[in-house]
Amino acid sequence: MRVWAVSNQKGGVGKTTTTVALGSLLAASGKRTLLIDMDPHASLSGYIGVEGGAHGSVYDLFGIGGNPLPAGTLVHATKWDHLSVLPASAAMITLDRQLGTRPGMGLILAKALAELASDFDHVLLDCPPTLGVLMVNALAASDRLLVPTQTEALALAGLERMLRSLSMIERSRGRPLPRTIVPTMFDARTHASRACLEQLREKYSDGVSHAVIPTDTQIREASAAGVPLASWPAARRGGLAYRQLLDELLASPATSVADAAA
Ligand SMILES: Nc1ncnc2c1ncn2[C@@H]1O[C@H](COP(=O)(O)OP(=O)(O)OP(=O)(O)O)[C@@H](O)[C@H]1O
Ligand SMILES: [Mg+2]
Repeated sequence: MRVWAVSNQKGGVGKTTTTVALGSLLAASGKRTLLIDMDPHASLSGYIGVEGGAHGSVYDLFGIGGNPLPAGTLVHATKWDHLSVLPASAAMITLDRQLGTRPGMGLILAKALAELASDFDHVLLDCPPTLGVLMVNALAASDRLLVPTQTEALALAGLERMLRSLSMIERSRGRPLPRTIVPTMFDARTHASRACLEQLREKYSDGVSHAVIPTDTQIREASAAGVPLASWPAARRGGLAYRQLLDELLASPATSVADAAA
């Protein structure tokens, strides 16, 4: 099972879109794929059409005020073949306050995923734009981090902040987390987009994906309509770029949590 976290502390950079796009492409190719909504705002759950309120959510893995629920009971099939979701709920916003610094709380998701290891080939974690217990859990459970980064002037400062937080988490995790910066919302017509992409490549060189996700109004329309990208005609620009990104990621070496521990 490969687990990729999609994270950036900056809001609105394409985290949820990237999670849904890659997840739906994987599922369409027959891979058993699980999307986990780690964001209390639950945009991914809304996009996929599975709301966590009544059905249980990531919140219930933490056992606040009772026993934790087994991960398998919180996973839902979607209307797309091979695509499942573990939804979010608004209650997750209270986790940081309720858990405080209780020990062991950073590994709850990793343990839950171990229970599901034989059920899924790929897991994608859509992270919230805040550094807290949910983000720490996501990074601890992952074998690769994807950082969607909007190609605009302010993005680089946000990226630096994100990478600094990551080094903090890496220190407590005890082993590095391979990462791929994914340029998003690229508009070749604007100088700002081109300059930002150039700076990203200069500064982070092979840490940046070759695939660049263009600004594509059809991506915005698909998220508004709740249609995962794999349902789009393949020739559309955004869909093609996400397919190229997926091929690139699949070709990168898989360092599963078990491999790294060995
Ligand atoms: N390549 C793109 N082209 C055009 N619109 C896009 C693209 N990627 C994402 N969007 C749109 O931009 C908005 C923000 O995207 P998304 O929700 O994926 O970002 P996010 O990083 O998950 O945001 P948040 O931090 O709020 O969770 C959405 O309306 C989405 O449809
Ligand atoms: Mg989001």
